[in-house]
Amino acid sequence: MIATGKITEVRKILEAARLEGQTVGFVPTMGALHEGHRSLIRRARAASGFVVVSIFVNPTQFGANEDLSAYPRTFADDCEACADEGADLVFHPDVDEMYPKGAKTTVRVSALSEPMEGKFRPGHLDGVALVCAKLFAIVGPCTAYFGSKDAQQLRVVEQMVRDLALPVEIVGCPTVRDADGLALSSRNSYLDPEDRERSLSLSRALRRIQELVREGERDTSKLLAAGLAILSSAGLDAPGGMSGESPDSIDYLEVVDPTTLEAVDRVERSVLVCGAVRVGTTRLIDNVTIDL
Ligand code: PAJ
Repeated sequence: MIATGKITEVRKILEAARLEGQTVGFVPTMGALHEGHRSLIRRARAASGFVVVSIFVNPTQFGANEDLSAYPRTFADDCEACADEGADLVFHPDVDEMYPKGAKTTVRVSALSEPMEGKFRPGHLDGVALVCAKLFAIVGPCTAYFGSKDAQQLRVVEQMVRDLALPVEIVGCPTVRDADGLALSSRNSYLDPEDRERSLSLSRALRRIQELVREGERDTSKLLAAGLAILSSAGLDAPGGMSGESPDSIDYLEVVDPTTLEAVDRVERSVLVCGAVRVGTTRLIDNVTIDL
Protein backbone atom coordinates (compact mmCIF):
# COMPACT_ATOMS: atom_id res chain seq x y z
CA MET A 1 0.00 0.00 0.00
CA ILE A 2 1.20 3.48 -0.88
CA ALA A 3 0.46 6.59 1.21
CA THR A 4 0.85 10.09 -0.20
CA GLY A 5 -0.28 13.61 0.58
CA LYS A 6 0.27 14.90 -2.95
CA ILE A 7 -2.45 15.38 -5.56
CA THR A 8 -0.02 14.95 -8.48
CA GLU A 9 1.15 11.64 -7.03
CA VAL A 10 -2.43 10.34 -6.70
CA ARG A 11 -3.13 11.28 -10.32
CA LYS A 12 0.03 9.52 -11.53
CA ILE A 13 -0.69 6.32 -9.61
CA LEU A 14 -4.32 6.19 -10.71
CA GLU A 15 -3.43 6.87 -14.33
CA ALA A 16 -1.12 3.86 -14.26
CA ALA A 17 -3.82 1.69 -12.63
CA ARG A 18 -6.37 2.71 -15.26
CA LEU A 19 -3.90 2.02 -18.07
CA GLU A 20 -3.71 -1.51 -16.69
CA GLY A 21 -7.49 -1.66 -17.03
CA GLN A 22 -8.27 -1.44 -13.30
CA THR A 23 -11.48 0.12 -12.02
CA VAL A 24 -11.15 2.48 -9.07
CA GLY A 25 -13.05 2.22 -5.78
CA PHE A 26 -12.86 5.26 -3.50
CA VAL A 27 -13.66 5.69 0.21
CA PRO A 28 -13.46 9.29 1.48
CA THR A 29 -12.95 9.56 5.27
CA MET A 30 -11.74 11.89 8.00
CA GLY A 31 -9.73 9.11 9.63
CA ALA A 32 -10.14 7.69 13.17
CA LEU A 33 -11.22 4.63 11.25
CA HIS A 34 -13.60 2.13 12.83
CA GLU A 35 -15.58 -0.87 11.65
CA GLY A 36 -18.02 1.41 9.76
CA HIS A 37 -15.20 2.78 7.62
CA ARG A 38 -13.70 -0.68 7.26
CA SER A 39 -17.00 -2.00 5.91
CA LEU A 40 -16.83 0.62 3.14
CA ILE A 41 -13.22 -0.28 2.29
CA ARG A 42 -14.22 -3.96 2.13
CA ARG A 43 -17.10 -3.12 -0.23
CA ALA A 44 -14.69 -1.16 -2.43
CA ARG A 45 -12.11 -3.96 -2.27
CA ALA A 46 -14.64 -6.59 -3.35
CA ALA A 47 -15.86 -4.55 -6.33
CA SER A 48 -12.80 -2.75 -7.72
CA GLY A 49 -9.33 -3.34 -9.09
CA PHE A 50 -7.72 -0.43 -7.24
CA VAL A 51 -8.88 0.96 -3.88
CA VAL A 52 -8.18 4.51 -2.69
CA VAL A 53 -8.98 5.75 0.83
CA SER A 54 -8.68 9.45 1.61
CA ILE A 55 -7.98 10.64 5.14
CA PHE A 56 -8.54 14.36 5.56
CA VAL A 57 -10.10 16.21 8.48
CA ASN A 58 -11.81 18.79 6.32
CA PRO A 59 -11.85 22.23 8.00
CA THR A 60 -14.55 23.66 5.71
CA GLN A 61 -17.17 21.30 7.13
CA PHE A 62 -16.58 22.34 10.76
CA GLY A 63 -18.28 25.38 12.26
CA ALA A 64 -16.34 27.92 14.31
CA ASN A 65 -17.41 26.36 17.62
CA GLU A 66 -17.10 22.76 16.54
CA ASP A 67 -14.53 20.06 17.28
CA LEU A 68 -12.03 20.57 14.40
CA SER A 69 -8.96 20.76 16.63
CA ALA A 70 -10.20 18.02 18.99
CA TYR A 71 -11.27 15.66 16.20
CA PRO A 72 -9.50 12.31 16.79
CA ARG A 73 -6.40 11.86 14.63
CA THR A 74 -5.01 8.32 14.59
CA PHE A 75 -3.06 8.25 11.34
CA ALA A 76 -0.72 5.30 12.06
CA ASP A 77 -3.63 3.07 13.15
CA ASP A 78 -5.67 4.25 10.18
CA CYS A 79 -2.93 3.22 7.73
CA GLU A 80 -2.81 -0.16 9.39
CA ALA A 81 -6.59 -0.55 9.04
CA CYS A 82 -6.42 0.45 5.36
CA ALA A 83 -3.62 -2.02 4.65
CA ASP A 84 -5.52 -4.68 6.59
CA GLU A 85 -8.59 -4.20 4.42
CA GLY A 86 -6.54 -4.35 1.24
CA ALA A 87 -6.53 -0.68 0.21
CA ASP A 88 -3.93 0.16 -2.45
CA LEU A 89 -3.52 3.88 -1.80
CA VAL A 90 -4.08 6.24 1.13
CA PHE A 91 -4.38 9.89 0.16
CA HIS A 92 -3.73 12.11 3.21
CA PRO A 93 -3.31 15.68 2.01
CA ASP A 94 -2.60 18.55 4.39
CA VAL A 95 -4.87 21.58 4.47
CA ASP A 96 -2.65 23.63 2.10
CA GLU A 97 -2.71 20.87 -0.51
CA MET A 98 -6.53 20.77 -0.50
CA TYR A 99 -7.15 24.49 0.04
CA PRO A 100 -4.28 26.50 -1.44
CA LYS A 101 -4.25 30.17 -0.45
CA GLY A 102 -6.65 32.16 -2.59
CA ALA A 103 -9.17 29.36 -3.19
CA LYS A 104 -12.56 30.95 -3.78
CA THR A 105 -14.94 28.27 -5.01
CA THR A 106 -17.84 27.05 -2.91
CA VAL A 107 -20.24 24.20 -3.64
CA ARG A 108 -23.79 24.24 -2.37
CA VAL A 109 -26.50 21.68 -3.03
CA SER A 110 -29.48 23.88 -2.30
CA ALA A 111 -32.62 22.58 -0.57
CA LEU A 112 -31.01 19.26 0.40
CA SER A 113 -28.45 21.05 2.58
CA GLU A 114 -31.00 23.22 4.38
CA PRO A 115 -33.12 21.02 6.66
CA MET A 116 -31.89 18.97 9.64
CA GLU A 117 -28.07 19.14 9.70
CA GLY A 118 -28.27 22.36 7.69
CA LYS A 119 -30.27 24.06 10.45
CA PHE A 120 -27.97 23.00 13.27
CA ARG A 121 -24.63 23.05 11.43
CA PRO A 122 -24.93 25.92 8.96
CA GLY A 123 -22.43 25.52 6.12
CA HIS A 124 -21.46 22.00 7.17
CA LEU A 125 -22.91 20.27 4.12
CA ASP A 126 -21.48 22.94 1.81
CA GLY A 127 -18.05 22.05 3.18
CA VAL A 128 -18.76 18.36 2.62
CA ALA A 129 -19.90 19.03 -0.96
CA LEU A 130 -16.83 21.17 -1.66
CA VAL A 131 -14.32 18.63 -0.35
CA CYS A 132 -16.07 15.72 -2.09
CA ALA A 133 -16.14 17.62 -5.40
CA LYS A 134 -12.43 18.26 -5.05
CA LEU A 135 -11.62 14.68 -3.99
CA PHE A 136 -13.63 13.37 -6.96
CA ALA A 137 -11.71 15.73 -9.27
CA ILE A 138 -8.43 14.37 -7.90
CA VAL A 139 -9.39 10.67 -7.95
CA GLY A 140 -11.26 10.84 -11.27
CA PRO A 141 -13.74 8.25 -12.60
CA CYS A 142 -14.54 5.86 -9.76
CA THR A 143 -17.18 4.22 -7.64
CA ALA A 144 -17.32 6.01 -4.28
CA TYR A 145 -18.66 4.36 -1.12
CA PHE A 146 -20.55 6.32 1.54
CA GLY A 147 -22.24 5.23 4.76
CA SER A 148 -26.00 5.56 5.21
CA LYS A 149 -25.21 6.62 8.77
CA ASP A 150 -24.81 10.13 7.33
CA ALA A 151 -27.96 9.91 5.24
CA GLN A 152 -28.28 13.60 4.45
CA GLN A 153 -24.61 13.80 3.44
CA LEU A 154 -25.10 10.77 1.17
CA ARG A 155 -28.13 12.42 -0.46
CA VAL A 156 -26.26 15.73 -0.93
CA VAL A 157 -23.28 14.00 -2.54
CA GLU A 158 -25.50 11.92 -4.83
CA GLN A 159 -27.32 15.05 -6.00
CA MET A 160 -24.08 16.97 -6.54
CA VAL A 161 -22.65 14.16 -8.67
CA ARG A 162 -25.81 14.11 -10.78
CA ASP A 163 -26.05 17.90 -11.11
CA LEU A 164 -22.40 18.31 -12.12
CA ALA A 165 -22.26 15.13 -14.26
CA LEU A 166 -19.23 13.98 -12.31
CA PRO A 167 -17.87 10.61 -13.51
CA VAL A 168 -18.53 9.00 -10.13
CA GLU A 169 -20.98 6.32 -9.11
CA ILE A 170 -22.12 6.74 -5.51
CA VAL A 171 -22.88 3.60 -3.51
CA GLY A 172 -24.67 3.93 -0.16
CA CYS A 173 -23.73 1.25 2.42
CA PRO A 174 -25.50 0.09 5.60
CA THR A 175 -24.81 1.64 9.00
CA VAL A 176 -22.55 -0.48 11.18
CA ARG A 177 -23.61 -0.53 14.85
CA ASP A 178 -22.23 -1.80 18.12
CA ALA A 179 -24.05 -4.78 19.67
CA ASP A 180 -26.09 -2.36 21.84
CA GLY A 181 -27.37 -0.50 18.75
CA LEU A 182 -25.17 2.62 18.92
CA ALA A 183 -24.10 3.61 15.39
CA LEU A 184 -20.31 3.57 15.18
CA SER A 185 -18.83 7.05 14.91
CA SER A 186 -15.36 8.48 15.36
CA ARG A 187 -17.00 10.84 17.88
CA ASN A 188 -18.10 7.93 20.13
CA SER A 189 -14.58 8.05 21.57
CA TYR A 190 -15.62 11.29 23.34
CA LEU A 191 -18.35 9.48 25.34
CA ASP A 192 -17.82 8.34 28.94
CA PRO A 193 -19.86 5.28 30.06
CA GLU A 194 -22.79 7.41 31.32
CA ASP A 195 -22.87 9.52 28.16
CA ARG A 196 -22.82 6.36 26.15
CA GLU A 197 -25.83 4.98 28.01
CA ARG A 198 -27.79 8.19 27.29
CA SER A 199 -26.65 8.13 23.66
CA LEU A 200 -28.30 4.76 23.18
CA SER A 201 -31.69 6.47 23.47
CA LEU A 202 -31.27 7.77 19.90
CA SER A 203 -31.08 4.36 18.23
CA ARG A 204 -33.80 3.14 20.62
CA ALA A 205 -36.10 5.98 19.58
CA LEU A 206 -35.49 5.24 15.89
CA ARG A 207 -36.15 1.54 16.41
CA ARG A 208 -39.35 2.28 18.34
CA ILE A 209 -40.62 4.42 15.45
CA GLN A 210 -39.77 1.62 13.03
CA GLU A 211 -41.70 -0.81 15.21
CA LEU A 212 -44.77 1.45 15.42
CA VAL A 213 -44.86 1.82 11.63
CA ARG A 214 -44.64 -1.95 11.33
CA GLU A 215 -47.62 -2.18 13.70
CA GLY A 216 -49.59 0.15 11.43
CA GLU A 217 -49.12 3.67 12.84
CA ARG A 218 -48.91 6.17 9.97
CA ASP A 219 -49.32 9.51 11.72
CA THR A 220 -45.93 11.21 11.89
CA SER A 221 -46.83 13.33 14.91
CA LYS A 222 -47.66 10.20 16.93
CA LEU A 223 -44.48 8.48 15.76
CA LEU A 224 -42.35 11.45 16.71
CA ALA A 225 -44.07 11.80 20.09
CA ALA A 226 -43.15 8.19 20.88
CA GLY A 227 -39.54 8.75 19.77
CA LEU A 228 -39.20 12.02 21.69
CA ALA A 229 -40.62 10.36 24.83
CA ILE A 230 -37.77 7.84 24.74
CA LEU A 231 -35.19 10.60 24.30
CA SER A 232 -36.62 12.75 27.08
CA SER A 233 -36.85 9.81 29.50
CA ALA A 234 -33.10 9.40 28.95
CA GLY A 235 -32.76 12.99 30.21
CA LEU A 236 -32.43 14.82 26.88
CA ASP A 237 -34.08 18.24 26.61
CA ALA A 238 -36.76 18.60 23.94
CA PRO A 239 -35.85 20.22 20.58
CA GLY A 240 -35.69 23.96 21.04
CA GLY A 241 -36.05 23.37 24.78
CA MET A 242 -34.45 26.08 26.88
CA SER A 243 -34.85 24.47 30.28
CA GLY A 244 -31.09 24.36 30.65
CA GLU A 245 -31.64 21.62 33.22
CA SER A 246 -29.61 19.15 31.25
CA PRO A 247 -26.49 19.58 29.12
CA ASP A 248 -28.03 16.85 26.97
CA SER A 249 -30.52 17.84 24.31
CA ILE A 250 -32.29 16.89 21.13
CA ASP A 251 -31.42 18.91 18.02
CA TYR A 252 -34.10 17.26 15.88
CA LEU A 253 -36.07 14.12 15.22
CA GLU A 254 -37.76 14.08 11.81
CA VAL A 255 -39.58 11.81 9.42
CA VAL A 256 -38.64 12.85 5.87
CA ASP A 257 -38.93 11.82 2.26
CA PRO A 258 -35.68 9.94 1.40
CA THR A 259 -35.29 11.81 -1.90
CA THR A 260 -36.32 15.40 -1.13
CA LEU A 261 -35.58 15.27 2.63
CA GLU A 262 -38.82 17.21 3.18
CA ALA A 263 -40.80 16.39 6.32
CA VAL A 264 -43.82 14.17 5.73
CA ASP A 265 -47.08 14.21 7.73
CA ARG A 266 -48.01 10.61 7.12
CA VAL A 267 -46.00 7.52 6.30
CA GLU A 268 -47.50 6.49 2.95
CA ARG A 269 -44.32 5.24 1.31
CA SER A 270 -40.70 4.70 2.30
CA VAL A 271 -39.37 7.31 4.69
CA LEU A 272 -36.16 8.22 6.41
CA VAL A 273 -36.27 8.89 10.16
CA CYS A 274 -33.35 11.08 11.19
CA GLY A 275 -32.24 12.32 14.56
CA ALA A 276 -29.45 14.35 16.14
CA VAL A 277 -28.72 14.72 19.85
CA ARG A 278 -26.12 16.32 22.04
CA VAL A 279 -24.81 14.30 24.94
CA GLY A 280 -22.36 16.23 27.06
CA THR A 281 -20.12 17.92 24.51
CA THR A 282 -20.66 15.23 21.88
CA ARG A 283 -23.10 15.54 18.99
CA LEU A 284 -24.44 12.31 17.53
CA ILE A 285 -26.61 11.62 14.50
CA ASP A 286 -28.39 8.49 13.39
CA ASN A 287 -31.21 7.44 11.08
CA VAL A 288 -33.22 4.48 9.87
CA THR A 289 -34.98 3.90 6.58
CA ILE A 290 -38.49 2.51 6.82
CA ASP A 291 -39.52 0.71 3.66
CA LEU A 292 -43.23 0.07 3.28
P1 PAJ B 1 -16.25 10.26 8.26
O1 PAJ B 1 -17.14 10.70 9.37
O2 PAJ B 1 -14.86 9.83 8.56
O3 PAJ B 1 -16.98 9.10 7.51
C1 PAJ B 1 -16.44 8.55 6.32
C2 PAJ B 1 -17.46 7.61 5.72
O4 PAJ B 1 -17.74 6.55 6.64
C3 PAJ B 1 -18.81 8.32 5.44
O5 PAJ B 1 -19.32 7.87 4.21
C4 PAJ B 1 -19.65 7.86 6.61
O6 PAJ B 1 -21.05 7.85 6.34
C5 PAJ B 1 -19.14 6.45 6.81
N1 PAJ B 1 -19.48 5.96 8.15
C6 PAJ B 1 -19.26 6.58 9.33
N2 PAJ B 1 -19.79 5.85 10.34
C7 PAJ B 1 -20.34 4.75 9.78
C8 PAJ B 1 -21.03 3.61 10.28
N3 PAJ B 1 -21.28 3.45 11.58
N4 PAJ B 1 -21.47 2.67 9.40
C9 PAJ B 1 -21.23 2.81 8.06
N5 PAJ B 1 -20.58 3.87 7.53
C10 PAJ B 1 -20.14 4.81 8.37
O7 PAJ B 1 -18.30 11.53 6.53
C11 PAJ B 1 -17.18 12.02 6.54
O8 PAJ B 1 -16.10 11.43 7.18
C12 PAJ B 1 -16.83 13.30 5.81
O9 PAJ B 1 -17.94 14.15 5.85
C13 PAJ B 1 -16.36 13.08 4.35
C14 PAJ B 1 -17.43 12.44 3.49
C15 PAJ B 1 -15.08 12.22 4.35
C16 PAJ B 1 -16.01 14.46 3.73
O10 PAJ B 1 -15.07 15.12 4.48
